Amino acid sequence: MCGIVGYIGEKQAYPILISGLKRLEYRGYDSAGVSIFNKKVKVFKKKGKVSDLDDFASKQDTAGTVGIGHTRWATHGEPNDLNAHPHESMNGHFILIHNGIIENYSKLKEKLIDRGYNFISETDTEVLANLIEYIYLKGKVSAEIAVRLALSKVIGAFGLAIICREEPDKLIAARRGSPLVIGVGDGEYFIASDATPIVEHTKSVIYLNDDDVAILSRDGLSLKTIKNDSLTPKVQIIDLDIGEIEKNGFDHFMMKEIFEQPKSILDTFRGRVSLDKMEIFLGGLYNVMPKLIEAKRIIIIGCGTSWHAGLVGEYLIEDLARIPVEVEYASEFRYRNPIITPDDIVIAISQSGETADTLAAIKLAKQAGATVLGICNVVGSSIPRETHAGVYTHAGPEIGVASTKAFTAQVTVLAMIAIVLGYERKVLSKKNYDELIKELHAIPTKIEKILKSNNNYLKVSKLYKDATNFLYLGRGYLFPVALEGALKLKEISYIHAEGYPAAEMKHGPIALIDEKMPVVVLAIKDKTYEKIVSNIQEVKARKGIVIAVVSEGDTIIKKLADHVLEIPETKDELCALLAVIPLQILSYHIAVLRNCNVDQPRNLAKSVTVE
Ligand code: AGP
Ligand code: GLU
Repeated sequence: MCGIVGYIGEKQAYPILISGLKRLEYRGYDSAGVSIFNKKVKVFKKKGKVSDLDDFASKQDTAGTVGIGHTRWATHGEPNDLNAHPHESMNGHFILIHNGIIENYSKLKEKLIDRGYNFISETDTEVLANLIEYIYLKGKVSAEIAVRLALSKVIGAFGLAIICREEPDKLIAARRGSPLVIGVGDGEYFIASDATPIVEHTKSVIYLNDDDVAILSRDGLSLKTIKNDSLTPKVQIIDLDIGEIEKNGFDHFMMKEIFEQPKSILDTFRGRVSLDKMEIFLGGLYNVMPKLIEAKRIIIIGCGTSWHAGLVGEYLIEDLARIPVEVEYASEFRYRNPIITPDDIVIAISQSGETADTLAAIKLAKQAGATVLGICNVVGSSIPRETHAGVYTHAGPEIGVASTKAFTAQVTVLAMIAIVLGYERKVLSKKNYDELIKELHAIPTKIEKILKSNNNYLKVSKLYKDATNFLYLGRGYLFPVALEGALKLKEISYIHAEGYPAAEMKHGPIALIDEKMPVVVLAIKDKTYEKIVSNIQEVKARKGIVIAVVSEGDTIIKKLADHVLEIPETKDELCALLAVIPLQILSYHIAVLRNCNVDQPRNLAKSVTVE
């Protein structure tokens, strides 16, 4: 987790570091800190947000043209000033910031204590700072060699930016498991956990691979492996517009991203779905298509919202293409000794492309010989680079910690895959194939219509913002949407919420229902409509409050439910794309009304790069 920024050049480092950290704050916000070199090393760090750090540090002398900055998501040691990064080695030779976990830190710490080292924080990071220093002093080697030797002794994950007091015209960056990007400017370099802090300065970037070490100075860059093999840096030009990472007039990124969905879905199928030719073409899967068409089994892996999208994918692929699909939490899959064969296709879904559990599950599947595909949003992130083939969602940067537009983009990709496979496997007739393509095209306009009812959602949100529990019910394609609605509410408003298949309610959760319990029921006119009407009646008979998401013009549920939120009709296979929107907006308004920090909910971070 956590965000890393670094700068070396001719400009003042501090403003660059602070604005970069603000862009990366979605990755962690337990504490923030910077270190700047100007004749001597200065370290400023504070528990809390980047703005708390800035309030304090901007009153100090922050002058200097080399610096590193960190925003933390604590793994080892509570969020406080002492555990905040940057960490200095005991004798002050090294200052470093770290993203990830040093798993063998306690063994290394014991050894360092035996050799006279003291520790002032509880972090695993300080152990690494001292290990580098120990090797540096004992071996009388350069900073670069000390870093490489120390990293060869480390088990775990790291993204690092390091300053050595004796070599102040250099920054050292290294990665294993945690993402790092180098921005290449004119006589200047940037380091960041993702490209968002870099784009306002340069579009030329180098994505570091695992076990890469980069040494940056104003005169140039050298890239090596931890084992000292020289590498040729591959500079890429990124296509990211600064406007895409600003709030553009919205109060929060989450709301901006909810409202972006008509466009982000269009971007997801742009160039892939053609109404003229009436076809779907997924270039990223071209080479693996024959294998996919013949697949006997598909395993979908992901975490959180991406796992929910995977569930929609299961329904889609089984329904339209008749290939058996299993959906697994990546964190379970990687440790439960799953059966994977070389005939299997594994699809990993991830917005960030950096989720540690998903990455580990991919490696496991690859070792077992499976063909692994990725559905990711962040271009150049680790998962697309680990997989054999894949499809980018192209939803644009998602900054709000609660995933919204990434979910609809993932479902759009899964729908495209299922439709293509259905047609190629001759499960779908040409007529059905054409109809699904047309309907997919119509989805963005239908979402625009839903977004116009924003005020209606606000009214309902005001009525139930103080509820302590919510239940979300859905059937078929809308069961995963119920799970997603509950997750959205939980994570940003801290209200306990559960998603259930509507028919399962009578096997337990019905006991919870009373006059204080809002039950959000996804009750559109699909093939289980009559059944869900009965489920609503069961809730009403127990005096529960029903907020129903219904198809436009529904008159039956209007009479039963306390509130209805209308969405346009669509094909059953695509209804998740519409039904999730009211749930996203509802959770957004409730969180705002409860004064919660919508974009940065407590204890969470955008990409979970630790186990
Ligand atoms: C969703 O709102 C979450 N904050 C979280 O569950 C997220 O979906 C999960 O951590 C997976 O992230 P990824 O898609 O980047 O892999
Ligand atoms: N493990 C380190 C810590 O707890 C770094 C965590 C992070 O990635 O922010 O401080």
